[in-house]
Amino acid sequence: MKQHDNPGRRDWKTWPHYDAAACGFRGYWYPVTWSSHLTGTPAAFQICGEKITLIRDRGSAYALHDRCPHRGIPLSMGSRQFPGTLSCAYHGWTFDLADGVLKAVITDGPDSRICGKVRVRTYPVEERLGMVWVYMPIGAEQPHPIDEQLPEELVAHAFVMGGRIDPRPGNWRFACENGYDEGHAKYLHRTSMWRLFKAMPVWNLTRIERRDRWIYRVQEEQFWSADFPGLGTWSNRRWWKLRPAKTKASNIGNTGATSKVDPVIAAQEFPGFASVSMPGVLRIVYPKFIHYEFYVPVDAGSHRYVGVMVNFAEGLAALRFYAKYLGLIRWLFHGQFSAQDARMVEATDAPPERLYRPDVSLTSWRALAEEEYTRKLEAAS
Ligand code: FES
Ligand code: FE
Repeated sequence: MKQHDNPGRRDWKTWPHYDAAACGFRGYWYPVTWSSHLTGTPAAFQICGEKITLIRDRGSAYALHDRCPHRGIPLSMGSRQFPGTLSCAYHGWTFDLADGVLKAVITDGPDSRICGKVRVRTYPVEERLGMVWVYMPIGAEQPHPIDEQLPEELVAHAFVMGGRIDPRPGNWRFACENGYDEGHAKYLHRTSMWRLFKAMPVWNLTRIERRDRWIYRVQEEQFWSADFPGLGTWSNRRWWKLRPAKTKASNIGNTGATSKVDPVIAAQEFPGFASVSMPGVLRIVYPKFIHYEFYVPVDAGSHRYVGVMVNFAEGLAALRFYAKYLGLIRWLFHGQFSAQDARMVEATDAPPERLYRPDVSLTSWRALAEEEYTRKLEAAS
C-alpha cells in the first residue's frame, strides 16, 4: 500500500458510547436557561432530544415533560391556575409541579375520577452560576449532586461572571471537539479581533495529561514561525502584535502573558490551559480569568452554547471585571471570536474523517467520554 493510501481510522467505532451519543449523554446535569429569565409563565426547551417545560413557582424552579398525557398538547402552552401546579391550555388538566401527578381537571369538576391516576414525568432541577440546570436521567436513578459535576474551583470560591447562552446549529460533539481541538485556534482565530494584538504560534507540540475527571492539553513546545519545504515561511507574527515571552504562564493562559496569575487560579496548579470533562465542559484558563463552555445537546443537529467568563475577584475588582466583560469580552470573545467556531461547528461533517497529529486532543476526549460513561453505566446496573 502506498503511504498516501493509508486509510487510518475513519469512523467512531473505537468509541461506541460516544458514537451513539448524538443526542448527548444522559445521567448528567445540563444548564438550560438563565435563572433570571425563568418566571411563572412556562417556557419550552429541548435537551437530549427530550422536550421539557420549565416554570418558576414561589421561588423554586421546576421541570416537567412538555407533553400533556391527555391529547399531547405541550404543557408549556399552559398556565398556572393554582399555586404549585401547571394547567394544560386545552382542557385544564392540572399537574403538581413537584411530582407531576394530576391533581385536578378543571373541565371535569372537583370529583374527577382520573385525578391521581395520571402523572407527567418531572426532572430534578438545581440553580447554579445564575442558571437553571436540569438532570436528564438514564432511567429511574437518583441524580448525583450537581457540585460533583461543576468545575471544582467554582464550587469552592466566590466569583463574578458574565456569559451567553446561544442556540447553535451542529451536533454537540462537534462543538465540544472544536472547543478542545488543539489545531484550529492558531489558524482559524488569527483574524479575530480578540487576537488582534496577540501573536499566536504556527504550531505546537502538545501532549494530553489526565488529572481526576479532566484531561489537559499541555504545550511542550511552541513554534512561532515555520519553513514549509518548497513553499516558504509562514508565521502569525505581525509588527503590531505582541509576541508573548516564553514563560510558565504560557500553559495557563494562551495569552502567554507574563502578568501575574490570579491567586485562586494559581492555586489550582492546572497542568495545561485547556481542559475538558464530561458531559462536555471546556475550561480555558487565562492568567486573570477562566472561560468555560458547556455544550448542551438539544437534538442530533443542534446544541445550546453556554459560554461563561469567571473572575475570582470580590468587591470593586469584581465590578471592574464585570464592566470589562460587558464592554469588551462579551463582544470580542463570546461574540466575534466564538462565531468563528460556530461557523466551523455548523459545517463539520464527520465521520468519515482523517485525523492528524494535533487531533490527539479529539481522540483523548472521546476516550475520556467512553471510559467515564462506561463506568457510569456499570455503576447504574
Ligand atoms: Fe391537555 Fe387536554 S390536551 S388537557
Ligand atoms: Fe476556537
